[in-house]
Amino acid sequence: MNITTPVNTVDEEVKWNKNKTIVSKTDTFGTILYANDVFSEASEYSTLELIGEPHNIIRHPDMPKVAYKLLWEALKREENFHAIVKNLTKSGKYYWVITDFTIDRDEDGHISGYTARRKSVPQSVVDKIEPLYKTLLDIEKTKGEKVSEMYFHAYLNEEIGKSYDEFVVDLFEEESKKEKKLLDKAKRIKGLQWFFFSDYE
Ligand SMILES: Cc1cc2nc3c(=O)[nH]c(=O)nc-3n(C[C@H](O)[C@H](O)[C@H](O)COP(=O)(O)O)c2cc1C
Repeated sequence: MNITTPVNTVDEEVKWNKNKTIVSKTDTFGTILYANDVFSEASEYSTLELIGEPHNIIRHPDMPKVAYKLLWEALKREENFHAIVKNLTKSGKYYWVITDFTIDRDEDGHISGYTARRKSVPQSVVDKIEPLYKTLLDIEKTKGEKVSEMYFHAYLNEEIGKSYDEFVVDLFEEESKKEKKLLDKAKRIKGLQWFFFSDYE
């Protein structure tokens, strides 16, 4: 398959080591300059295939345009940014991540590019954000990008009361805490089962 061939999507999550961080670095236009091994694992592209390509090589068609518009507006204002993103792999699968975008500067303080660090998100985060992205995409397709963007700003104002950046960071932190509590509880129960039932095994 050629790198420019459009990828057909498959409704299946790719397997990757979700304890790790996916890292990429770009120039100021979003051209990939560096990708770590975890990026290769999750995206199913080799480092060689990724380097020099525009970052939209992994853009998933389920993502609304407004998410990237907000990203680039923040970067142009020289602000760091967070986003929850569904990415597309080489074979058409997907993976969901929260991404921390930061600005890189040269020794004179000029912006030289950007770094993105991505962590896996709990399923409960996906369950909350996916319907919102679908609504935004449906509006975008039927009424256009501008209307989708205006709806998004009104939604954040009226229903969330936070900027998109604050919304995704808070959502990720709250849901990660809940997930950790559940995991700790499951571990405690498993521990107790071992204590009470180990003689019978
Ligand atoms: C550092 C950095 C990392 C990015 N990471 C992703 C990413 O993981 N997935 C993605 O779809 N776009 C990512 N983008 C945004 C893309 O450059 C692009 O704007 C987006 O894929 C939308 O594509 P389009 O502008 O062709 O519609 C990143 C941009 C930067 C600067």
